[in-house]
Amino acid sequence: MENKLNRMKKIIAFAGSNSKKSINKQLVTYASELAENVEVEVLDLNDFDVPLFSVDLESEMGHPENAKRLVDKIKQVDGVMVSLAEHNGAYAAVFKNIFDWMSRIEQKTFQDKPMLLMATSPGGRGGASVIAIAKDRFPRHNANIVAEFSLPMFNTNFSEGKIIDKELNNELKNRVEQFKNAL
Ligand SMILES: Cc1cc2nc3c(=O)[nH]c(=O)nc-3n(C[C@H](O)[C@H](O)[C@H](O)COP(=O)(O)O)c2cc1C
Repeated sequence: MENKLNRMKKIIAFAGSNSKKSINKQLVTYASELAENVEVEVLDLNDFDVPLFSVDLESEMGHPENAKRLVDKIKQVDGVMVSLAEHNGAYAAVFKNIFDWMSRIEQKTFQDKPMLLMATSPGGRGGASVIAIAKDRFPRHNANIVAEFSLPMFNTNFSEGKIIDKELNNELKNRVEQFKNAL
């Protein structure tokens, strides 16, 4: 019988990328594995394909099922882990697009769920610009960002599904713990 107080917490984890080899998906998957005793569903934005947002399309066709599905996924879980790809200093188009749709379906898109906000890139800034944009914007859509983590120089610091730099790995473990404690 489910007891609300001690049932296993559920989270979703996804990358703001549609790359099949997404480094952000690799990072968010690893972070989700560090969250012990939490039920994790790793999602892929390729499974949430939506047309390019336009107000005309919206008034003609309404909202795409896949955007509603992602809003519902957030509704059903206790927390969200996301790692955003940085394209030209901002969200990758695939993420911006589904976020725009989702914000029209549910203005409180992130529904007050605790969030671990992350980014990684091959460069030394580790997606600092996209993290700054998300930190400014997501709370306006009811994101409760409880921890953040940036992994610079992905190709140096990550190998075979893990962060290999000890300090960065410890930092991520701490951030995951902070996130877990907020669930
Ligand atoms: C169009 C484009 C723009 C990019 N702009 C940036 C950037 O502004 N900052 C950065 O750190 N990396 C940038 N990159 C490199 C990405 O960080 C890199 O492709 C990374 O793998 C993207 O994450 P993903 O693998 O999860 O999709 C850019 C890549 C592309 C294709």
